[in-house]
Amino acid sequence: MDGVVRIAGGRKLAGTVPISGAKNAGLPMLAASLLTGEEIVLHRVPELRDIRSMGEILQRLRGSFSHRDGTVRVRMEDPQGNPDYAAVRQMRASVCIMGPLVARRGEVRIPLPGGCVLGARPIDLHLRGLERLGCSIHLQNGLVHVTARRLRGANIFLGGRNGSTVTGTANVLCAAVLAEGVTQIQSAACEPEVVDLCRLLCRMGARIDGIGSPTLTIEGVAGLHGAEHTLIPDRIEFGTFLLLALITRSDLTLPAIESAQHGALLDMLAQAGARIGEDRDRVHIRGSAGEVRPIELTTLPFPGFPTDLQAPMCALMTQANGISILTERVYPNRFAHVAELERMGAHILLEGSSAIVRGPTRLSGAPVTATELRGGACLYLAALAADGESTVYGAGHVARGYENFEGKLRALGAEVERVEPREA
Ligand code: EPU
Repeated sequence: MDGVVRIAGGRKLAGTVPISGAKNAGLPMLAASLLTGEEIVLHRVPELRDIRSMGEILQRLRGSFSHRDGTVRVRMEDPQGNPDYAAVRQMRASVCIMGPLVARRGEVRIPLPGGCVLGARPIDLHLRGLERLGCSIHLQNGLVHVTARRLRGANIFLGGRNGSTVTGTANVLCAAVLAEGVTQIQSAACEPEVVDLCRLLCRMGARIDGIGSPTLTIEGVAGLHGAEHTLIPDRIEFGTFLLLALITRSDLTLPAIESAQHGALLDMLAQAGARIGEDRDRVHIRGSAGEVRPIELTTLPFPGFPTDLQAPMCALMTQANGISILTERVYPNRFAHVAELERMGAHILLEGSSAIVRGPTRLSGAPVTATELRGGACLYLAALAADGESTVYGAGHVARGYENFEGKLRALGAEVERVEPREA
């Protein structure tokens, strides 16, 4: 992916960071707009490459889509056609249109997304859930063809070897809301982004019980209508800026987000010795106070520690005074950032699905390459803490998921310059 960013490390940062709406709430919500011919209006939608890609998919399905000042208006009056391989390859979350489209028009044909830099990433659970609702599934020539004359409520267990599935739950949920009768999804993902999707679906007229729990009970309805909804703030962006404060030893202020959404993160940061104060609507982190302590961390589905913060946490642990162990239970191979951190001087041993980090290390600026979104954020953090200058290639990955990341960093006093392509 394109994009080169030059970062001068070692600067102390200061100020208040605005937090954008959650990308991973917005993407399945945009897909859910396929469930009705009426207009869906979403507020606090971040300006991101992935959101644009989903908008383009909806436009190709002959819908109308606009995104201005954080508000998306989308109307899928009569969705036609199917996404092509280029669209799915560019953004895996495009699989989220499967459940809504089959529920709306009884058919969808979508290229299988295949693996990615995070690992194998199968969609067997999505397909199994849709099958239980009465869909027929045919795989041929790299395409999955899902058809259903009618959807019927069913009991569906959605747990896999690595726990629940976030977009799989979204897909099955979106099909079940229009199925005949009652569906029970067991081992449903409990991530706040799934909760937010449920809230939108309820505003559209869906009947869902057990929201936020691993058991969702859905009473199918004959049709859904238009709705307006404001996305939750992005808890991963929030966590990334807390980690930034600690790695650069800076004092930052962030808007508070619902505390139930980041319990595991705050617990880990407390173990790492972070000084965090919260008043009514603000969180103050004093990265300048005290040393960073090593931690043992395991990523797990919500409410466990989020896999999306494992790489940024790995960058921070290079500064901890001792040995940290970061274990991946969601994506056992999500460690592409490790070799890049080593190029900056970090001491990290990969042992199975664990990274063993020995700190503290004075990182030195280097040319490094991002191959995925959160690994990219990890490299920005390491570069901002390092001595000297770093060049991050593949910065486009970061732009997929962090709204105006470079602008927000500069507003805090960071020296971050986009070299290629230049920002408008
Ligand atoms: N899995 C299966 N079978 C399936 C589906 C998933 O075995 O049918 C496995 C996966 O391979 C993985 C685990 O289950 O080991 C969890 O995957 P999940 O399906 O929950 O991931 P996802 O829905 O594809 C979402 C986020 C990811 C985030 C994960 C885990 C969106 C659009 N993406 O992906 O976000 O890492 O949940 O929390 O919501 C990111 O933002 O950088 C990102 C990758």
